[in-house]
Amino acid sequence: MIERAARRLRETAGAPSPGGLGPAGPVATGRQPREPARGDWAGRSVRQDLDFGALERGGFITPDSEYSPLAEQFRIIKRPVLIEAFKRDHGTATNRNVVMVTSARPGEGKTFVACNLALSIAQERDYSVLLVDADVRHPSVVPTLGLHATRGLTDLLADPALDPGDVMIRAANLSNLAVIPAGSRSTSAPELFASHGMARLLDDLARRYPDRITIIDTPPALASSEPSVISLHAGQALFVVEADQTNTRAIRSALALISRCPSISLVLNKARGSLGAEEFGQYGYAYAARGETISPRKEA
Ligand SMILES: Nc1ncnc2c1ncn2[C@@H]1O[C@H](COP(=O)(O)OP(=O)(O)OP(=O)(O)O)[C@@H](O)[C@H]1O
Ligand SMILES: [Mg+2]
Repeated sequence: MIERAARRLRETAGAPSPGGLGPAGPVATGRQPREPARGDWAGRSVRQDLDFGALERGGFITPDSEYSPLAEQFRIIKRPVLIEAFKRDHGTATNRNVVMVTSARPGEGKTFVACNLALSIAQERDYSVLLVDADVRHPSVVPTLGLHATRGLTDLLADPALDPGDVMIRAANLSNLAVIPAGSRSTSAPELFASHGMARLLDDLARRYPDRITIIDTPPALASSEPSVISLHAGQALFVVEADQTNTRAIRSALALISRCPSISLVLNKARGSLGAEEFGQYGYAYAARGETISPRKEA
């Protein structure tokens, strides 16, 4: 898998830029993020500052780390995501700009990838990003970004009187980034996520701003039903594989659970001494499109 992923990574890095988007080039669509209208979600959301120093110390991308290896790695990951999200030929696929991040098991780096991808996309000129924490049992996005929240996704789904703007946090010092926290712990979270309300919300998030990408951090697919349910409404999935840890059987089982998602890509996380080290340094990432064969570990 690593060899195939490495090949794919190199191909992606050198690929032309369909529709003005490409891994090696700037995003040039000529579109500008839409200004939120009065009374729109953004107008009702709270604003909080991100602590860029703390984020950088924690291993996250900030506007000051634009030439770091990490920033470069996430540029390579985000380009194909942006291409897929905003390509003109939509076909019948929906919600291409809704991207779920999942993995087979706990601790493989889903939140790390979701947050860094969001921070990287937030620095784009032509796109904005909404990061949604859908891991109610282990909500990590808000503490990871150093924000504070009382309400979030579960409250939104449980109370029809609430609007996304009522629970949304906008980053005051990174204007292209907004966050929907996980929300109050709810024993019925799996049922809330499986409800029509969740389907309507994700459709709405996908359509409300045409230049915005929604990234959803999810729990592990083999430990909870939510990724499977969310995969019905997400146009893309990033599946995180922890190098030398996630085994092939777990990868296959988890991929089967999210197989309704029309576009699934693999992100190899925490790669040391092999692909990642060769390409980027201590921690590396590889990127493989759906359909690439997952080889047994001995071949990796
Ligand atoms: N590439 C990386 N480099 C350095 N640290 C990493 C990397 N990926 C993940 N980590 C660290 O590993 C730990 C687990 O990562 P993270 O919380 O993102 O995993 P997760 O898959 O979201 O876990 P959970 O299933 O519990 O939500 C965190 O401390 C995170 O900062
Ligand atoms: Mg997590």
